[in-house]
Amino acid sequence: MSKFSTCSFMSYTTLLQPRASLKVQKEGIVTARCTKVARNLNMEKLRNNYLFPEISTREIEHMKKYPNAKIISLGIGDTTDPLPEIISSSMADYARALSTPEGYKGYGAEQGNKELRKAIAETFYGDLAIKDTEVFVSDGSQCDISRLQLLLGNNVSIAVQDPSFPAYIDSSVIIGQAGDFQDETGEYRNIEYMRCGPQNHFFPDLSTTSRTDIIFFCSPNNPTGHAASRKQLIQLVDFARENGSIIVYDSAYAAYITDESPRSIYEIPGAREVAIEVSSFSKIAGFTGVRLGWTVVPDELLFSNGFPIMNDFNRIVCTCFNGASNIAQAGGLACLSPGGIRALLSVVDRYKENARILVDTFASLGLKAYGGVNAPYVWVHFPGSRSWDVFSEILEKTHIITVPGSGFGPGGEEYIRVTAFGHRECILEASERLKSLFS
Ligand SMILES: Cc1ncc(COP(=O)(O)O)c(C=O)c1O
Repeated sequence: MSKFSTCSFMSYTTLLQPRASLKVQKEGIVTARCTKVARNLNMEKLRNNYLFPEISTREIEHMKKYPNAKIISLGIGDTTDPLPEIISSSMADYARALSTPEGYKGYGAEQGNKELRKAIAETFYGDLAIKDTEVFVSDGSQCDISRLQLLLGNNVSIAVQDPSFPAYIDSSVIIGQAGDFQDETGEYRNIEYMRCGPQNHFFPDLSTTSRTDIIFFCSPNNPTGHAASRKQLIQLVDFARENGSIIVYDSAYAAYITDESPRSIYEIPGAREVAIEVSSFSKIAGFTGVRLGWTVVPDELLFSNGFPIMNDFNRIVCTCFNGASNIAQAGGLACLSPGGIRALLSVVDRYKENARILVDTFASLGLKAYGGVNAPYVWVHFPGSRSWDVFSEILEKTHIITVPGSGFGPGGEEYIRVTAFGHRECILEASERLKSLFS
């Protein structure tokens, strides 16, 4: 066995130990051998560890306490099913050809392979008049969210759904758009939190929402699983147009929509002048590890001085990125072939069926569960309970990892998120364990 593979079997706890020669004074602060470089103050402002590392730490502690427990992870939203052969073989063929004089390719276009940009425009935006030149292929939408923050700089104000995917707020803090974290509210200053819950059909009350430059909006939403209706998105686009704001619309889960909800913000008239869309192959094609996504920046989207935003985004992509892996892009093209689409939608259907099993499980226990119909996430309400307490109780009694809703913002308190990504037998086993805990 190689050194490398041996290392991959080391326990997490070993890897997390500080090196013996370094003294840890307070959490994360090491005293020996400091440089003279001051820490980025924005990084200092970041409140918690990123949510998922914190969950991993708790999982490791649980494994130490119950070494024989069979843990089921319904936590991090990572895909579990193997890639369809038609997609993996296209990447394997491409990779093999790289070893031949005819098949070798070096750098590609920073904006992505032309054929793939065209296929994305046609497949996901059909008759919405998105041009291939408006599609920027990337290594995933989380990376694009940060690149967009770099493009926007620290002088803009932002609004986010509360609860929401943590990358919007964290990248905003890192770039310097946010003020200090307030313990009393669980919010950063200078960020507009748009509360979304069952009380407002998971759509913010825009009449009380302050104007911001940027509005991050995710639909179907992670974590609530809610897909905004056409009527809601018309209100959102109108709001952005009235305020001269830009919507950064995250459609990473659009493939899970089963009802009439729009799959793209560009289905809404007027959106081209106010919206950027980020999206991903991660959850539709199981590319969470392969890494492939895209961002659409329409021609008509302009800064206040009339400068096209697309030109600046192009500059950011050329300077800070240099293009997605050509092997991943070959896989992306295979995904969008007729056989590829059929194959990946059948995987999506399997996850949707998992979601249905989970929704039924919670419903049978008399718990209020949202989502799961248009998204691979089920959002479960435990009125009066703190979400980390619910997380801990479920882990302690059933060995199931969930995600505490408060990790997605103060609006997630009293909820947990459960993912439908998982092998069917694990979902069924989790369902049985939850039934015996709560019934
Ligand atoms: C809403 C949302 N956007 C973006 C991402 C990141 O996707 P990618 O793998 O393309 O970086 C995730 C991942 O969980 C997500 O939930």
